[in-house]
Amino acid sequence: MLEIKSLTKSYGDNLIFQDLDLQVHQGEVLSIVGPSGIGKTTLLKIMTGIEPADSGDIFIDGQLVNQEGRDLQNKIGLIFQDFNLFPNYTVMGNITLAPINVNKLSAAKSQKEARSLLTTLGMADKADLYPYQLSGGQKQRVAIARALAMKPQIIAYDEPTSGLDEVSTGQVAEVIKTLKDQGVTQVVITHDQPFAEEISDRVFDFAKEVARV
Ligand SMILES: Nc1ncnc2c1ncn2[C@@H]1O[C@H](COP(=O)(O)OP(=O)(O)OP(=O)(O)O)[C@@H](O)[C@H]1O
Ligand SMILES: [Mg+2]
Repeated sequence: MLEIKSLTKSYGDNLIFQDLDLQVHQGEVLSIVGPSGIGKTTLLKIMTGIEPADSGDIFIDGQLVNQEGRDLQNKIGLIFQDFNLFPNYTVMGNITLAPINVNKLSAAKSQKEARSLLTTLGMADKADLYPYQLSGGQKQRVAIARALAMKPQIIAYDEPTSGLDEVSTGQVAEVIKTLKDQGVTQVVITHDQPFAEEISDRVFDFAKEVARV
């Protein structure tokens, strides 16, 4: 379980949120909604160790994780809004780069795992393509495969359906539901109300939580 306690973050004089509490249970899909600029992406960046918080604690399964620096990034996989795929690597290269270089997995093993992930995501025939040869929905699924390849305990998405058409949005929803069936804990920032209702067990309304303190 993920537990965020009393998290406070400002950029300079600009207080973004104060004493924010949030819990995500094992295997749960939690959607985070709220107006633009309120701090949703900032929260994900703190959760994944990209940004430091001013104060507050993050626990995973009761263990304090936000004082170990980069370790946090491997516990929570983040899928950025704009995918951030490496344009000069193929789909396979994008997925296996971190497992090989960070987790020191062999190329053969990481490629085998990547193929299995791509099959799950309906992308088995796309391994040798480059990001520019993919549709938005396909890029989104490569970004998901790349995050999953690091075997995070929790996976977090920043607006995974923005810019996607209905069919691609449906595919992303299916991926999230498949992962939920496998017991993966997921946090999803979204502006898409029907999508949030379709995929999530619970919705965290950022505006209400920030106003509360
Ligand atoms: N690196 C940074 N330096 C200074 N201010 C920042 C930085 N990153 C974000 N901010 C500010 O923090 C606030 C929250 O930004 P954030 O990106 O978390 O919003 P958001 O809720 O994700 O919005 P959106 O729905 O538009 O994506 C904004 O006012 C933004 O300008
Ligand atoms: Mg954002």
